[in-house]
Amino acid sequence: MSTKRNIIVGQSGGPTSVINSSLAGVYKTAQERGFNKVYGMLHGIEGFLDEQYVDLSTQIHTYMDIELLKRTPSAFLGSCRCKLPEIYESPDTYEKIFSILDKLEIEVFIYIGGNDSMDTIKKLSDYAIVHGHSQKFLGVPKTIDNDLALTDHTPGFGSAAKYIAASTKEIIRDALGLSYNKENITIIEVMGRNAGWLTGATVLARTEECVGPDLIYLPELTFDMDKFTDTVMNLLKKKKNLVIAVSEGIKLEDGRYVCELSGGADYVDAFGHKQLQGTAAYLANYLGAKIGCKTRAVEFSTLQRSASHIASRTDIDEAFMVGGAAVKAADEGDTGKMVVIDRVSDDPYMAAAGIYDVHRIANNEKLVPREWINKEGNFVTQEFIDYVKPLIQGSYHPFMVNGLPQHLVLNMNNK
Ligand code: F6P
Repeated sequence: MSTKRNIIVGQSGGPTSVINSSLAGVYKTAQERGFNKVYGMLHGIEGFLDEQYVDLSTQIHTYMDIELLKRTPSAFLGSCRCKLPEIYESPDTYEKIFSILDKLEIEVFIYIGGNDSMDTIKKLSDYAIVHGHSQKFLGVPKTIDNDLALTDHTPGFGSAAKYIAASTKEIIRDALGLSYNKENITIIEVMGRNAGWLTGATVLARTEECVGPDLIYLPELTFDMDKFTDTVMNLLKKKKNLVIAVSEGIKLEDGRYVCELSGGADYVDAFGHKQLQGTAAYLANYLGAKIGCKTRAVEFSTLQRSASHIASRTDIDEAFMVGGAAVKAADEGDTGKMVVIDRVSDDPYMAAAGIYDVHRIANNEKLVPREWINKEGNFVTQEFIDYVKPLIQGSYHPFMVNGLPQHLVLNMNNK
């Protein structure tokens, strides 16, 4: 039974540019609400099981540290992709977790993560209720993929979308510079697994002075190689320079990922997800051989989730807000829930924190609706643009030292 008001917070799943802003929101709100210690588990539940944690007051000392943390990409505490066993499969695991929680006199357990990570909150809150433990378990949403159910969008998505849109503009400028009288195809590969939110965000590169991508292929629809080749050939009759965005997760009718055609996707994580990469390289080589023109593949890879120098201010602020809202909800008695972002108004854009039962969120994927993809299946609609645009607005200046952004990093000597 907890006697002290202590909190423990962890970060889980693929990092983002703003996951540390949620951590800052948890820390600051816990202080404001009079919690005693705020512990951070190192590398999520995986490190926690090895009793790896820090007292965050040894790491965050000043207002400036909080501001620096908000601007630091990746997971300050370290992350993990770890799936807890079912309770009946390994009761020992749960006994161990709860004995550590009791030892640290934890009242609130907060996990910042995506749909797989919410499985941890679901299992721990279920176990606590059945076995009469008093701790509260709350989830804070996070993922660049934007595939969490019941939240309008996820922290991390807006910043990744902003980086992707800005970089797509720069890629288009570069390609146009060299495309005099010669055919030139650039294929851009974007993360997001089975959800096309991020790939669709390349559309934002279409601005007053930039034509934007020519074709956009999301994983929500089956990818047809022959149809794709015909579309590209026809477009080349009208313009020489093509920029095409594809999701890392586009699949053929037989269920294989396109990247598997070149031998990619061998590694599989604890949740059964294949590591997807090489889609753009495969398609660029394929088109190069078929058409005989210059092609290039650009894979944004981990840059799209760590480019905090161009993070969206809206995203950083909302990530901070949901971190704080989780502490408040737990303090007011909630458990087994995840905080969500509700879009309160479109014009002007306004959002507020809400909350839902985590059982409705864990292990689910929210995909781009069919109506937000054009009839031909190779572009997104105006509704998609209207949805994403507000999420990339505003910026926070990084703290620059010697010409580079400064980050807050864990200091284990202080532990
Ligand atoms: O979950 C976020 C994500 O960035 C996915 O878009 C991507 O498929 C995956 O993580 C890549 O993860 P990793 O870096 O572990 O291969």
